[in-house]
Amino acid sequence: MKKLNVALIGAGRIGRVHAENLVFRIPEANLVAVSDIFVEAAETLAAELQIPAVYQDPAPIMEDESVDAVLICSSTHTHAQFIEAAAEAGKQIFCEKPIALDLAKIDRALATVERAAVKLMVGFNRRFDPNFLRVREIVSRGEVGAPQILRITSRDPAPPPIEYVKVSGGIFLDIHHFNIGCVFY
Ligand SMILES: NC(=O)c1ccc[n+]([C@@H]2O[C@H](COP(=O)([O-])OP(=O)(O)OC[C@H]3O[C@@H](n4cnc5c(N)ncnc54)[C@H](O)[C@@H]3O)[C@@H](O)[C@H]2O)c1
Repeated sequence: MKKLNVALIGAGRIGRVHAENLVFRIPEANLVAVSDIFVEAAETLAAELQIPAVYQDPAPIMEDESVDAVLICSSTHTHAQFIEAAAEAGKQIFCEKPIALDLAKIDRALATVERAAVKLMVGFNRRFDPNFLRVREIVSRGEVGAPQILRITSRDPAPPPIEYVKVSGGIFLDIHHFNIGCVFY
């Protein structure tokens, strides 16, 4: 079977998680390139995981015909533009959540993906979390009657850096709760 050549954009916290999964747990994929505007982060990850190509700007990734798919793990405000660039370059796309913080940008990115007829998956990993799926089953079987209120409590081990908070949309837009609420009902 031909291995999928995957390139990573964004070598921060979640980029590293996906990179390690690709290198150590997904034998069907080759992690062939990494880019980060903070190029030292990309260089460090590439050295650790033996990723052959390192870039500051993701443009060469989009131009490289040997790259089949891109993982967009950069800061939230960059997602929509990279989705569009990847779709226009004919790449399959995984993008971390959220696509963007306003509907017009999201619609534009999705229209570009549809026109290009490529796949796009957004990193709403809680949709695949067995605990949440179990709650969905219980709710859909009517075991708890008609739900009136959904209360979710979750915590990160430590607060993110302030630079992250400034561009992430804040706790309500950036975290999975609204998405999970939609999945339950
Ligand atoms: N699905 C999940 O559970 C989950 C968990 C954590 C983060 N995320 C999402 O992943 C994204 C990144 O989060 P993080 O915690 O890794 O943040 P982070 O700040 O640790 O990493 C983001 C990286 O993107 C880089 N970057 C910023 N602009 C760029 C550009 N123009 N080109 C290339 N690289 C660029 C930054 O230099 C940084 O290294 C966010 O959108 C966040 O919402 C999702």
